[in-house]
Amino acid sequence: MINNKDILQDSFGRQHTYLRISLTELCNLRCTYCMPAEGIQLSPRDHIMSYDEVYEIAKTFVDHGVTKIRLTGGEPLVRRDADVILKKLATLPVELSITSNAVIIDRFVDTLQACNIKNINVSLDSLDAQKFKEITRRSDFEKVYNNIMLLIDEGFKVKLNAVLINGFNDNEIIDFIELTKALPISVRFIEFMPFDGNKWDKAKMVSYAQVMEHVNARFHEDKIVRMQDAPNDTSKNYKIEGYMGSFAIISSVTNPFCDSCNRIRLTANGRLKNCLFSSSESDLLTPLREGKSIEPMIQKAIQAKFKIRGGMDTMEKLEQPDLHSNNRSMIAIGG
Ligand code: GTP
Ligand code: 5AD
Ligand code: SF4
Repeated sequence: MINNKDILQDSFGRQHTYLRISLTELCNLRCTYCMPAEGIQLSPRDHIMSYDEVYEIAKTFVDHGVTKIRLTGGEPLVRRDADVILKKLATLPVELSITSNAVIIDRFVDTLQACNIKNINVSLDSLDAQKFKEITRRSDFEKVYNNIMLLIDEGFKVKLNAVLINGFNDNEIIDFIELTKALPISVRFIEFMPFDGNKWDKAKMVSYAQVMEHVNARFHEDKIVRMQDAPNDTSKNYKIEGYMGSFAIISSVTNPFCDSCNRIRLTANGRLKNCLFSSSESDLLTPLREGKSIEPMIQKAIQAKFKIRGGMDTMEKLEQPDLHSNNRSMIAIGG
């Protein structure tokens, strides 16, 4: 074993301490901005990491300095052995968290508590049941909403993730912020990002500046408080004075936060992505199954990381479909 933390430091000096693991490419929703209408080509079952393999790979990262692991999907909880994986990963000395659509999370409350999970991020793009159905192609609004309330009652720190689409849910920005009046949650508005098959168009994106226009039109400037962001935060955080919760904007398109990036991603089929937008991947599962050390592959992948958005450092590059069509669909990355 290479006995230092350096294999997780890239050529720009960024230390990668946050590993996002996608447990499955499957999901119980069909969000239009996340997966193509025709679905995706799924990895063969035997190419998906087993729970032992997830643990082995995660442990290697933890041995080299990873302190935070977030489980994603698809929807991580639809994986049949999700509870086994959660419990195994909970034995590692890391902050364990999860991003879920919350449709079936009520069945996991005991497990999540037993695993000492404190932070749960829930995707919710509309507070209107009909619109929820339009975007997710499923009628689960009530379940999701009730489960969010359940998580809050159970004491979890909940962040809601809302991807904003121009002309679709940007008229709900204030409704979402009003939710934070009496609920101790953080609502995060996300700039719509381009991935394979999601029909991205800059005109569909609602920018950080546009969100703030809605906020400034509704609240007096004295009431809008810019909060201190946590180190390595993806979000710019605000609150309305006197409200229990807060809101934030995740501005990967108009204001990328790559300088402070500490994230790496492991896909459900055991490939390392050094950036959300990277078009290349490093297979860790094959060497692991062959009994080889995966550390050299990890080091090489981290060294190859671009400074900004997998090399799409300008808006012009981000707008070129051939640049992001080499990347996966979001459903197979996990955010
Ligand atoms: P915290 O751990 O609570 O900070 O959450 P998070 O923002 O890391 O994760 P989450 O899964 O809730 O993702 C929220 C949004 O941020 C999604 O749209 C992600 O795609 C986006 N996001 C997460 N990590 C990155 C990243 O490294 N780069 C970019 N550009 N976007 C990211
Ligand atoms: N742009 C921005 N965020 C996205 N997510 C999924 N697809 C996109 C996209 N195209 C978000 C989901 C989820 C998180 C993991 O990623 O809403 O909350
Ligand atoms: Fe990190 Fe890539 Fe996201 Fe930038 S776009 S913050 S480099 S993962």
